[in-house]
Amino acid sequence: MQANNHNDQSDKSPVVQLTFKDRCALIQLCNKPVNALSQQVRSELLDAIKRATENADCHAIIITSDLALFSAGADISEFSTGNLSPMLPEVLNTIENCPKPVIAAVNGSAFGGGLELALACHYRISFAKNKVGLPEVHLGILPGAGGTQRLPRLLDTQSALDMIVSGAPTPVSAINSVFDKTLDSAQEVVKAAFDFIDEAISKGPRPTRAVSLSMNEEKAALFSQYAEGVEQKAKGFFAPLKCVEAVKAAYENNFEGGLKREAELFMACMETPQARAQQHFFFAERAASHLADIDKALETRDVKSVAIIGAGTMGGGIAMNFANVGIPVKLLELKPEALDKGLGIIRKNYENSAKKGKLTAEQVEQRMSLLSGTTSYDDLADVDLVIEAVFEKMSVKKEVFSALDKVCKPGAILASNTSTLDINEIAQATSRPEDVIGLHFFSPANVMELLEIVRAEKTADDVIKTAMQLAKTIRKVGVLVGVCFGFVGNRMIEVYGREANRLMLEGASPEQVDRVITEFGLPMGPFTMGDMAGLDIGYFVRQSRQSFIQHDPSYCVVADELVEAGRVGLKAGKGVYLYENGSRKPIPDPQVMEIAKRKAQELGIEQREISDQEILERCIYPLINEGAEILKEGIAQRASDIDVIYVYGYGFPVFRGGPMKYADEVGLEHILARMTHYQNKLGDYGQHWFEASSLLRELVETNKDFSSLN
Ligand code: 3HC
Ligand code: NAI
Repeated sequence: MQANNHNDQSDKSPVVQLTFKDRCALIQLCNKPVNALSQQVRSELLDAIKRATENADCHAIIITSDLALFSAGADISEFSTGNLSPMLPEVLNTIENCPKPVIAAVNGSAFGGGLELALACHYRISFAKNKVGLPEVHLGILPGAGGTQRLPRLLDTQSALDMIVSGAPTPVSAINSVFDKTLDSAQEVVKAAFDFIDEAISKGPRPTRAVSLSMNEEKAALFSQYAEGVEQKAKGFFAPLKCVEAVKAAYENNFEGGLKREAELFMACMETPQARAQQHFFFAERAASHLADIDKALETRDVKSVAIIGAGTMGGGIAMNFANVGIPVKLLELKPEALDKGLGIIRKNYENSAKKGKLTAEQVEQRMSLLSGTTSYDDLADVDLVIEAVFEKMSVKKEVFSALDKVCKPGAILASNTSTLDINEIAQATSRPEDVIGLHFFSPANVMELLEIVRAEKTADDVIKTAMQLAKTIRKVGVLVGVCFGFVGNRMIEVYGREANRLMLEGASPEQVDRVITEFGLPMGPFTMGDMAGLDIGYFVRQSRQSFIQHDPSYCVVADELVEAGRVGLKAGKGVYLYENGSRKPIPDPQVMEIAKRKAQELGIEQREISDQEILERCIYPLINEGAEILKEGIAQRASDIDVIYVYGYGFPVFRGGPMKYADEVGLEHILARMTHYQNKLGDYGQHWFEASSLLRELVETNKDFSSLN
């Protein structure tokens, strides 16, 4: 786990500064990078409060930050190290019980324990646009340092519940009752706190706990209605309902009783697999942006203008990402009609967003004005980055890259959005393979947050670093991967899709498979996903990969027959499922099971009743096994990167942490045992497809798990 852990005994530079000034103690937190409230911060803070309390010349205390942020809350990396005294609730109780008035000068964002610290002070000063919040729920826990008890004492019940259950950052201007003064800018906050001293001294300490709360019928109804809504929305998560329970406890108990209940619920959350998964994912997301073998000091290239080759489904969506952040884009097509069509679709997408109130008419025009079309490569001479999104055919890709090589300026980055082709081979079509990289967007490219950044053999480090930074600029989550068929995401999903199709031949219905997968937590099952993406996509991939699948006569045979009969999915109104009158609601079609039955007979596969457990294991375990192969080959930098790809690219439930974290949680020994079981049970099919990865075996033999590879 990488983290902002400053508990290292060798790192003894102070992280809390105390100065006495104008009858007042100024306590500044300075624990870079985010003022996480580590053990060192907590003990120095406690010590500073003690010294300020004992100093007879000091009549008030201001707590603020020396960084741009007030505090990001508890040090999450300490969660796995057990209790480290002094604990945050104890420090905050000491602050609240301080006999001298304590003012929180919240001069930057305050999250989790950071906001709880401010809530425990007697007065709070901030600025209107500042963002504060209690995001603990995203870590599978709840605010455990009095947040669920103090916030409802300063804010109406509904808003307190919303903040705690959603974990969303909230502007200070939206929760005025929590603050005593709200300034216009961060720079004014500390001065305003000093100006406030006289008032604070004359009023004296004002502990939040002194506000009394009580339950009544109306509130009880609010809580039960709120809990019902949360139960519906947050399936699979443990913490959201516990958040509601903890806030409710504030109304059912006195302050001490409420705190006790909060602590119990906090511990209950902390011990769940969901909390482990969500905390793993917090660090996984951040680790993904770290490039293990690239010099941190390396300069990136400027990307101020972009060209996209191909204004089709992907090209149009990719172009929108850049226009959305103010970067001009040239779209190149071979024919003007194709350009008009592509630009027309982009306009329609923006106008739809405007209809939903997400954009103003002015913003639509401003974004469209950043997009221009061309049919001539000469117009691309000055662009900083080109992204190719033409047909998935090597010969066409090579033609495009060779044309780009001739016109693009030196240093321009040449990227391909290919989903399956070898980027090393594409790079060879140019005289500058070091400038060539894969930028694999997911469909719809203007919506999906994942971006696989594909490092080819010769890609220069600064090109990779630039791509990683660019992902942030266009609000994507960039993950570095290597070249192989399908890269990380699609290579693993192929295994999962194959297994779902085989299960259908063995007697499971598409709706049973889809139900098992959605109950596991994915937003849709493999058959619904296939219909949405278009069954023809997989069909064409299979056509080009005969050598990979020819030993298996059962490989996706039902899907092949459906495509050949024109049932290509949602866009045709029929695929594995039927879709009536343009609706996206899948309707099971008994005919498909008939096809499966016939094919099974032809292939000598005995149909049987298949348990939900078998479906889950057979779809998910081979996918994990493929992840292990990917790690062994060095296609992914770390196991947690695969988790990030799966959560952002495929909707793998974050409460399971991603497939590799899920595997660690289930136990690799169990996964290996089940792979071996199916290998032996499923004849030739099992022998081939259920061969366990040597990395999986090695980890089991050495008693390690995937997290040991991060
Ligand atoms: N604990 C430990 N490390 C933290 C941390 C925290 N609370 N918050 C951030 N970090 C680390 C990150 O892992 C990252 O480390 P890295 O550079 O080694 O990858 C570094 O600080 C910088 O973080 P970001 O890259 O996320 O920086 P940004 O500027 O993009 O974002 C932020 C800043 C909005 C504060 C974001 O870091 C964030 O959301 N942090 C977590 C906030 C949170 O969840 N707080 C609740 C903590 S739990 C708690 O308080 C329990 C209490 O109720 C008892
Ligand atoms: P598409 O068929 O919708 O669009 C391709 C566009 O490229 C068409 O508008 C076509 O006129 C244009 N084109 C073809 N040859 C050209 C050339 N030589 N010069 C200029 N323009 C040319 O295809 P789609 O779906 O957008 O796919 C494009 C690429 O993106 C493919 O490599 C595909 O594998 C990849 N991809 C597709 C995803 C998807 O879900 N559709 C997801 C991720 C990647």
